[in-house]
Amino acid sequence: MTRASLSKAPHEVAAMFDDVAERYDLTNDLLSLWQDRRWRRAVLSAVAPKPNERVLDLAAGTGTSSLPLVFAGATTIPCDFSVGMLKVGKRERPRLPFVAGDAMQLPFGDETFDAVTITFGLRNVADPTVGLAELLRVTRPGGRLVVCEFSKPTFAPFRKVYDEYLVRALPAVAGRVSSDPESYTYLAESIQAWPDQAGLARIVAAAGWRGVQVRNLSGGIVALHRAWH
Ligand SMILES: C[S@@+](CC[C@H](N)C(=O)[O-])C[C@H]1O[C@@H](n2cnc3c(N)ncnc32)[C@H](O)[C@@H]1O
Repeated sequence: MTRASLSKAPHEVAAMFDDVAERYDLTNDLLSLWQDRRWRRAVLSAVAPKPNERVLDLAAGTGTSSLPLVFAGATTIPCDFSVGMLKVGKRERPRLPFVAGDAMQLPFGDETFDAVTITFGLRNVADPTVGLAELLRVTRPGGRLVVCEFSKPTFAPFRKVYDEYLVRALPAVAGRVSSDPESYTYLAESIQAWPDQAGLARIVAAAGWRGVQVRNLSGGIVALHRAWH
């Protein structure tokens, strides 16, 4: 699948994240009503890193998604292609070994990692199937993948309310707190254009991953997809 239905090219996505980097964590907390913290704990338990395992946190941004993995004792490599996000991350979390890299062509050798994960990043990658194949390439045989991404609420009436939130409330709130409110209109559009749980499971499998499992969080607002090399 491609991002053809969305309006931003890869360099525009990187520039967009450069622009929101300074207030990124605060805006996230507010827009998700602090649910993002629960979602990050769920990612940690899905990755279930053992001490000293090597874990790639792709599209790590400022490193917020990497911290739980680091605290669990995994050797975690945060990788992102937005220089702005990396700069803020390096300033706020100087001990994290940030690596600049594009999901479409990862700067790592084959079978480098025990586990790979991507939180709220895959939706932005120009071709998610290529990104998932790259993640497979850098994972050792038997290693695992955890994708955390926005998805579709499973209860129809709630889904309607949530769609309203995406179209109206989210851009309005972001307009007040974010350094680049327009990017949150893109966020709402990109969430709506993204496949549902079953659709993403098919994409993960098509990229070569096995045994795909899905877990809904917050009624399906977010879904975790877990799979094995
Ligand atoms: C919404 S942020 C998520 C950051 C972090 N994972 C978190 O959970 O807070 C999405 C990140 O994906 C990064 N990204 C998007 N496309 C990418 C690509 N092709 N390669 C590397 N990073 C990418 C953006 O630069 C941005 O930092």
